[in-house]
Amino acid sequence: MVCLGNICRSPLAEGIMKHKIKQQGLDWQVDSAGTSAWHTGEHPDHRSIITARQNGIDITDQQARLFKPHDLDNFDLVLAMDDSNRRDILRFATTKKQHDKVHLILNFSHPGSDQSVPDPYWDDNGFEKVFQMLDEACNGVLEHLANNQWQIPIPIGKRPEV
Ligand code: 4NP
Repeated sequence: MVCLGNICRSPLAEGIMKHKIKQQGLDWQVDSAGTSAWHTGEHPDHRSIITARQNGIDITDQQARLFKPHDLDNFDLVLAMDDSNRRDILRFATTKKQHDKVHLILNFSHPGSDQSVPDPYWDDNGFEKVFQMLDEACNGVLEHLANNQWQIPIPIGKRPEV
């Protein structure tokens, strides 16, 4: 899970996904990172902590870290919160395999829409909305991967001609 600061959106995404995979008894590794080092070592923004807690999830233990090129090898999926995060991550991709792991997370709830999770850092009221968007997207990721489909869904009309 990757955003800019790794203190607002991606910590929520990490917490939500860990919560869901625990509920399902899955043994997957989930982590988050930021494309900037501005908040490295910090715990999540207090507004993300409160929003997660109100939804039954504890994210207080998380600490921000910088996204590393090696993350493209260490993880099977790299989910960007917005298009700028996605572009920054793709700068590190040197192989097709790495490139193909990187997706906008909302394409798992709204296939092919290329929507970004809005950055709530400057908007005190945006956190619950972001939580709900990420919750829906994480359900989409789980549904998709439960079917062993490691490629993201491409809606009819956007599919390449065979
Ligand atoms: P995030 O939000 O990328 O969701 O963690 C932000 C956090 C900090 C800043 C911007 C966005 N900042 O400018 O410091």
